[in-house]
Amino acid sequence: MFDLRCTVRNCGQVLRLADTCLRCDNGHSFDRAKQGYWNLTQPQDSKSSTPGDSDAAVEARHRWLQSGRMNGFTEFLQTWVDDCLGVSGDEENVRVIDLGCGEGTFGKALFHDRSVTYCGIDLSKRAIKLAARSWPQATWVLANADRRLPIVDVGVSLAVSLFGRRPCEGLHRVLVSGGHCIFAVPAADDLIELREQVQLEGRQRNRSSAIIDEFAKAGFELVEHSNWRTNVLLDADSISDAMAMTYRAFRFSQQQRMEAISSANVTLAAELLLMKKTA
Ligand SMILES: C[S@@+](CC[C@H](N)C(=O)[O-])C[C@H]1O[C@@H](n2cnc3c(N)ncnc32)[C@H](O)[C@@H]1O
Ligand SMILES: [Zn+2]
Repeated sequence: MFDLRCTVRNCGQVLRLADTCLRCDNGHSFDRAKQGYWNLTQPQDSKSSTPGDSDAAVEARHRWLQSGRMNGFTEFLQTWVDDCLGVSGDEENVRVIDLGCGEGTFGKALFHDRSVTYCGIDLSKRAIKLAARSWPQATWVLANADRRLPIVDVGVSLAVSLFGRRPCEGLHRVLVSGGHCIFAVPAADDLIELREQVQLEGRQRNRSSAIIDEFAKAGFELVEHSNWRTNVLLDADSISDAMAMTYRAFRFSQQQRMEAISSANVTLAAELLLMKKTA
């Protein structure tokens, strides 16, 4: 089990396992949900400006990832994970966190076969329930990654955020010196064919330079910057899933334009950043 911290305001004590609950020295306790995850949210998290993905978006992403279209992406990431974790005889003591872990497909694919201690954090209950069902041995936490991360200081060797949250200060606090972050963000031409037809917009701004700058200022160095790209033929249902998991709300006109497309060749593209805590 992963060492977690209490999320009650101004507490932050280490949580210890006591039967089926986690308890801190200040007497705050958190029950384990029957689906096997820990709910560390506080009342203010439901008012968050990023309350986590909707159930519909989570389910669309679940179908999308189950389809295997992102397997090449996972294989690419696996090489970075292997480089970061190396061959360690003592992997049980190596902690990995996954911020905005979603429904858990990537976390399980990347870490299930290793003996590292893995913790996935997401603010969507639907997502964390799916994740806990698919890999019950891992630690799954419902929490807001934009507040103080419920993770002990300087204990994490690798943090991943795949299209998820990247709280720079919090990541710096929890990572060991020399620890790594792996980030994935949609590339400028991700889903471009659908965006052009449905939203009538073109390439998006490149997001990685702002992330590299932000993390460089906080004491991280860029180790590697790479791109993953493929082209897939999508049918109407997959087009609908791709858009639902990416965009929160559709205007009626956009919905109509999307429903008119029965199939399309679509670019899937992500930028990948490997960063190392150096200071
Ligand atoms: C685009 S999805 C990516 C999910 C997963 N990493 C994947 O690639 O399949 C973004 C995830 O971030 C979660 N999320 C959004 N805001 C969050 C927050 N403040 N704290 C924790 N998770 C959050 C959403 O619920 C969603 O599951
Ligand atoms: Zn507490």
